[in-house]
Amino acid sequence: MKAVIIKEFGGPEQLSIGEWEKPSPAQDQILVKVHNTALNRADTMQRKGVYPPPAGASPILGLEIAGEVVEVGANVNQWKQGERVFGLIPGGGYAEYAVIHQDMAMPIPSSFSFEQAVAIPEVFLTAYQAMKWLADVQPGETLLVHAGASGVGTAAIQLAKAIGVKTIVTASAPKHQTCLDLGASLAIDYKTEDFQEKALEFTEGKGVDVIIDFIAAPYFLKNIDSLATDGRMVILALMGGLNVDGFNLGKMLRKRLKVMGSTLRARSRDYQIRLNQDLKAFAIPLIEQGKIKPVIDSVFDWEQVVEAHQYMEANKNTGKIVLKVS
Ligand SMILES: NC(=O)c1ccc[n+]([C@@H]2O[C@H](COP(=O)([O-])OP(=O)(O)OC[C@H]3O[C@@H](n4cnc5c(N)ncnc54)[C@H](OP(=O)(O)O)[C@@H]3O)[C@@H](O)[C@H]2O)c1
Repeated sequence: MKAVIIKEFGGPEQLSIGEWEKPSPAQDQILVKVHNTALNRADTMQRKGVYPPPAGASPILGLEIAGEVVEVGANVNQWKQGERVFGLIPGGGYAEYAVIHQDMAMPIPSSFSFEQAVAIPEVFLTAYQAMKWLADVQPGETLLVHAGASGVGTAAIQLAKAIGVKTIVTASAPKHQTCLDLGASLAIDYKTEDFQEKALEFTEGKGVDVIIDFIAAPYFLKNIDSLATDGRMVILALMGGLNVDGFNLGKMLRKRLKVMGSTLRARSRDYQIRLNQDLKAFAIPLIEQGKIKPVIDSVFDWEQVVEAHQYMEANKNTGKIVLKVS
């Protein structure tokens, strides 16, 4: 089959379409003819050689797929050939065929295209996990989402609205309107404004209850000062750096803060299946009713995979970048 190959670890120009062995489904897997896959930041890090796939996963890039079932493993009883499915995989999406565990696959709602479906799994599972499972955000609380116009950010804004949570985002100014249209109450231009000052002003000095952060080190001290008593923060990425100097632990103690880090890809399959079932029960009905929608920035033919990676690394996208495979 054809797949996107990494010639050598490095820049986007290392990617090209080549030949790769077609996977065959294990007992509890289904083989999917991939119509669409989508980009994640993890793909750019794996391409550079700094984020290896978990043990047993395909070394081909691609964490999510939408397509048609072409073959099922011996123990698969819930799927049959020709059905339209989408879902999260540990790797192998940038290819004509990919395998997915039967319990990680979800049926594509009839009103949805493959492009729309593929823009859902990674960002909605990540945002749902952070907000509900880790931070346990409650209706009436206030949430601060950094990189609000990212794929995960746009999912978080919509989930928050559905839960009844007020959302503040940080994003570069041209991306503000999209965040506001999706349901954010306030958008802060982190390049020209002080997010801590704005968040405290918005909450009348109380602070926000939950923060979803991707920037890490440069935001850490201001995040701590932006949190309300009993506040929770989930750090999902380290885009700005790793090390923090001058952290006063007294602030954590006095405000009874919870600071958590999380990953999704490295979680056990059982954990991912439970999360998938939970998201499916909560979000799929809302998606079918049009109350939550995948935010697609652009669709590239997979022949343009180099341009798609360059586009993401230039921070040009608001929401998901989708690849058309077939
Ligand atoms: N831990 C997990 O489980 C998990 C799961 C999925 C994704 N992630 C991580 O979450 C992050 C977001 O993923 P995504 O796919 O949603 O990303 P994305 O759609 O590519 O968006 C990332 C956005 O972040 C903003 N940004 C980049 N560098 C920044 C910086 N130094 N300071 C402030 N803002 C910055 C940019 O928007 P502006 O124009 O607004 O600056 C950029 O477009 C990635 O780092 C990804 O690896 C983690």
